[in-house]
Amino acid sequence: MCGIVGYVGRQKAASIMLEGLKRLEYRGYDSAGLAVLQDGDVALLRTTGRVAGLAKLASGKKLTGTTGISHTRWATHGGVTEANAHPHRSSDGRILLVHNGVIENYAAIKKFLLTKGYTFTSETDTEVLANLIAYHYAKEPASAETSRFLEAVRKTLLHVEGTYGIAVLSPAHPDELVAARKGSPLILGVGDQENLIASDVSALISRTQNVVYLKDGELVHLTPSGFTLSTLDLADVHPVIDTVTWSVDEAELGDHAHFMLKEIFEQPVALENAMRGRFAADGSTANFGGLNLSPADFRQIDRFVFTSCGTGWHACLVAEHLIERYARIPVEVDYASEFRYRNAPLDRDALFFVISQSGETIDTLAALREAKRKGYKCMAICNVVGSTIAREADGGIYQHAGPEIGVASTKAFTSQLLIAAMFALYVARMRDLSFADGVQYVAGLKAVPGLARRALAQAPRIQEIATRYAKYNDFLFLGRLDLFPIALEGALKLKEISYIHAEGYPAAEMKHGPIALISDQCPSVFFVPKGELFNKVVSSMQEIKARKGPIIAIVPEGLELPDGLADEIIPIPDCHEAALPILATIPVQLLSYYIAVARGCDVDKPRNLAKSVTVE
Ligand code: AGP
Repeated sequence: MCGIVGYVGRQKAASIMLEGLKRLEYRGYDSAGLAVLQDGDVALLRTTGRVAGLAKLASGKKLTGTTGISHTRWATHGGVTEANAHPHRSSDGRILLVHNGVIENYAAIKKFLLTKGYTFTSETDTEVLANLIAYHYAKEPASAETSRFLEAVRKTLLHVEGTYGIAVLSPAHPDELVAARKGSPLILGVGDQENLIASDVSALISRTQNVVYLKDGELVHLTPSGFTLSTLDLADVHPVIDTVTWSVDEAELGDHAHFMLKEIFEQPVALENAMRGRFAADGSTANFGGLNLSPADFRQIDRFVFTSCGTGWHACLVAEHLIERYARIPVEVDYASEFRYRNAPLDRDALFFVISQSGETIDTLAALREAKRKGYKCMAICNVVGSTIAREADGGIYQHAGPEIGVASTKAFTSQLLIAAMFALYVARMRDLSFADGVQYVAGLKAVPGLARRALAQAPRIQEIATRYAKYNDFLFLGRLDLFPIALEGALKLKEISYIHAEGYPAAEMKHGPIALISDQCPSVFFVPKGELFNKVVSSMQEIKARKGPIIAIVPEGLELPDGLADEIIPIPDCHEAALPILATIPVQLLSYYIAVARGCDVDKPRNLAKSVTVE
């Protein structure tokens, strides 16, 4: 997915847009560009590489224009080249636009436009959109100048299949922008004698805290003094102006080396925020204000279905263990990208959950829409307020973890685990969990932020281990039951930021094939459990040791491993069993971070990735 910033107002647009693009670069960073209207024409700059390169290019130009659009790209159609960088300009020069999304019928449209004399200089679907708007603009009567521009965009979008978040400008319409969304997030920032459009709040927050979340099918026409919202079928829309509650410095790097490290260390606060105001007065259960379901509704639920992608899917797996263990209600977990096409037969009284940090992941959104199409109520656990998934769900639980900028999810994940543990308690106390067990469970969760601080205190030691293990090119992560999803998460973290091949497995699965990988060149990270499985996992470790596999063991305090079995032991604080997945996650977040740094990787912007995947 890509990042878009548009500005129309009294200030010079270029510097404001560049500031916003820097905050959106986690959404895509293979090329960038901007266009401002000035001197009756357009100043257009584009470059491959990062926003910093665009800023350098801009520093050498006199960019005085006060209306502009800008973009940082994650390539979908067309390679990483300057010609494919946005903004794209129509061949008649009348229209420029930036786009986030995928136009599925672009080839047919391009073929039509070629017959009308339009030409193309890029491989992108976006350039097709620019020329199609120009085509409709040329056909529009010049009577009402302002509506001509808006009408040209509207008529174009009626012919488009696929997804888009776009911002459009035209030299014939200084002091005007048109923006529209369908399937890709777009937010209007309402300022004082200025208005902005951006892909997410972090690009707007330094100019205004008043925002309007555009919905699919809506267009907005912006001028410095105001804006009008409408829909593709010409209905007027009365805007709801929200106020953003977090401050700009929460989206700043501060004196941290990377956003990922900052967000790893923000976890105690994020965990406190997840619990704030969410325990019942009697201290024996949790309370959620946004589920929009009564206890009687929950009594009818005989199955939960959780879907998500990536790290969110790992959180679903932990939720499955906790809800089945404490509430004794069956839980099904599916990848959102699989669920949406599986056409699975479902229980009549199932309740759906999706988990999404960004609230914009297209596969998770599609799974939510599929569940609702089948008539199911769908809850969302989300971090971004006002995101598409949060708004389309029938209810849900906001994480309040604050903005997560690092592409590798950390604080959002442990926040999801804590919310899953609270939700499991909530439904369990409606079933058979006793008051006393509920009180003990609540006390266990309330202790988590402090225990997380203690787990984070291991960072220097984990950094030392990481520098010695950064040389390996294969890792296994092994855990059982609710620590198996943490093994998967640890493997994903290492993969996505250090590019090391890493796999997560249930520890007992070793014998069924993966143990063939073991040698002194393939370390294994073991999550050692408390209770009946302790000896079973120790046996798995011994099988690895017998084959000279290096072992890093994540071990709850109070548990003793046989001498010499693990090469490295990273203790985690003892805790309520529902909190163990949270505390077991922190060491592997740190391990993957420090290994990636030792290997000189770009931790916050790993190659080929983007923070939220809003295209299929
Ligand atoms: C996590 O480290 C990854 N960046 C990725 O798997 C992510 O969890 C996934 O794309 C889902 O994103 P979401 O939570 O914003 O929907």
